[in-house]
Amino acid sequence: MNDNRLLACARLVRGSRAADVGTDHGYLPMYLVQNGICESALACDINEKPLASARENIEKAGLSDKIGVYLSDGLGSVPCEGITDVIVAGMGGELIADIISRANWIKQRRVNLVLQPMTKWDHLREFLYTGGFEVTSELPCQEGKFVYSVMQAAYTGTKPPYDCDLRYLYCGIVTPDTEAGRAYYLRQAQRLEAVGRGLLHAPDGSAAAQEHLALAQKLRELVL
Ligand SMILES: C[S@@+](CC[C@H](N)C(=O)[O-])C[C@H]1O[C@@H](n2cnc3c(N)ncnc32)[C@H](O)[C@@H]1O
Repeated sequence: MNDNRLLACARLVRGSRAADVGTDHGYLPMYLVQNGICESALACDINEKPLASARENIEKAGLSDKIGVYLSDGLGSVPCEGITDVIVAGMGGELIADIISRANWIKQRRVNLVLQPMTKWDHLREFLYTGGFEVTSELPCQEGKFVYSVMQAAYTGTKPPYDCDLRYLYCGIVTPDTEAGRAYYLRQAQRLEAVGRGLLHAPDGSAAAQEHLALAQKLRELVL
């Protein structure tokens, strides 16, 4: 597996049995088991076609005894016994939040979550914050011309030790001390500027516009 985004997900796995929700090809659970990061894993997908490809890849690699394959909407049809980590990567932030919110056992067992939203990261971060999940680590990564952030979170049931402000919604706990971190800040600054410019034309939007534009400038200064 040579995808920086999926490798970053693998780096945030902590336990012995990970469920990869929306596994598609199954490469991530295969990598986790092949590299001794997990003893066993679950490859789950809502669609038959990607699941068939995951099953074929897992069989070819001789890993069928260690990786179970599940046709499931989110975690709905997945046996939760022994699962230490849940990975949901490559989907929109709203769908990821929905999948997490429908599996209450994640809270009860304080499962390690590894979440990589393609869009709507602000929605996901707000969902985590208001739902009592603390983001404990965040790994920015670059794949080709795209930059992503992978979040590690766990349920604590208490208010996280940071504010749910605009900076958290856009950058989470990413820091600009790596090349990928700086690239993430610059990308989020562009997004803040686009939203801020749009808000300038909205009725009563000027305070929010200034807040977006000021944060964009601050992120750029932090990268310099
Ligand atoms: C873009 S692929 C991402 C694959 C891989 N996780 C990655 O990050 O490269 C999204 C996968 O999620 C699956 N998916 C979408 N909605 C889902 C849901 N509600 N439950 C489980 N899988 C879902 C799709 O069938 C697809 O295989």
